[in-house]
Amino acid sequence: MRTTRLAIVGLGNVGRRLLELIELKRDLLRARFDLDLSVIGAVDRGGGALTAAGLSTNEILRLKRAHQSVATYPGIGQPGLSAQQLVRDADAEILVELSLTNLKDGEPGLSTVRSAFARKQHVVTANKGPLVLAYPELAALAKTNGVHLLHSASVTGGLPTLNLGMRDLGAAVVEKFEGVVNGTTNYILSRMGQGQGYAEALKHAQDIGMAEADPTLDVDGWDAASKLVIVANAVLRRPTTLKDVSIEGIRQVTPNDLRVAAERKQVIKLIALAEKAGKDYQLSVKPTWLDKGHPLARLGAGMMGVLYNTDINGTIFAAIEEEDPYPTAAGVLRDIVQIASAC
Ligand SMILES: NC(=O)c1ccc[n+]([C@@H]2O[C@H](COP(=O)([O-])OP(=O)(O)OC[C@H]3O[C@@H](n4cnc5c(N)ncnc54)[C@H](OP(=O)(O)O)[C@@H]3O)[C@@H](O)[C@H]2O)c1
Repeated sequence: MRTTRLAIVGLGNVGRRLLELIELKRDLLRARFDLDLSVIGAVDRGGGALTAAGLSTNEILRLKRAHQSVATYPGIGQPGLSAQQLVRDADAEILVELSLTNLKDGEPGLSTVRSAFARKQHVVTANKGPLVLAYPELAALAKTNGVHLLHSASVTGGLPTLNLGMRDLGAAVVEKFEGVVNGTTNYILSRMGQGQGYAEALKHAQDIGMAEADPTLDVDGWDAASKLVIVANAVLRRPTTLKDVSIEGIRQVTPNDLRVAAERKQVIKLIALAEKAGKDYQLSVKPTWLDKGHPLARLGAGMMGVLYNTDINGTIFAAIEEEDPYPTAAGVLRDIVQIASAC
């Protein structure tokens, strides 16, 4: 049995579910991959805990459910322990970075990921910030240090958009990528299609915890554009930042637009699009009128989906209904297993 040592930064919605899945799948991973995962360190905003013997995932979950920091872990908790210190002090093989997405400077994730590479640790992350701001640098750092950077859950959570594009379309040229990659705006537009106004639909999304109190990142298109930037870098192999994407959100879409669209047997979706133009791609995020027969038009309120149009692999459509962060955490676990079982 091989034990792989993990250090985890961020114990929020995704981090906590990852801990649950590590326990739930312990026997399966042993049987299928001869693999055991040991969480030897973890930090949140309050600090952290680390021990080479492995932390109890149940104890971390108990603390987080009681709204306490992992820094209160009995006997070994360290208030103020930072992610950087965790990387330095824990002898982890894989750093799992699940702190909040910050599109301004990528922190704290960006510095943590750089430090992990400097210590020759593999990195698994669902955090878009560092990838959107510094994808070429981080991919090069991983290569130089002979380690892996896997981030399949950073785009569309549990839907393997990136694995499909990077692995399964590895010999293809993507002529066009189209995606409904932001669940919140798809939910709001779907409700508006049923007759609600924008404000009412947004409030409902906030009431059920789907939209943030400050919905700017979602409704103004930044989250979708961030995912498109990651797809462009990882799948289209195009060094790309947010500046390369023309971005329009959904605030200007009216119920009347949706009614007119319905009369024309169309729907309006916020589409992230990368379309080949000569040797380059044109990248945009904008509300788009789609015929009802279009695969992305059929996506319901809780769904995300992507469509790859390729030169030799045909046209591939994939979709997911993701009502909670378990599929995202499962994507993170899949990346961990991929690295651990290859080492
Ligand atoms: N939720 C999803 O379905 C989903 C899907 C795809 C990608 N993602 C991405 O996955 C990441 C995690 O998402 P989430 O929903 O789990 O976020 P979340 O619930 O807000 O949790 C964020 C975690 O990061 C910790 N944190 C914040 N600042 C930190 C710092 N300076 N040092 C150490 N820890 C820090 C927080 O600590 P405290 O616990 O002390 O607050 C919390 O545990 C984000 O980057 C998100 O964009 C999420």
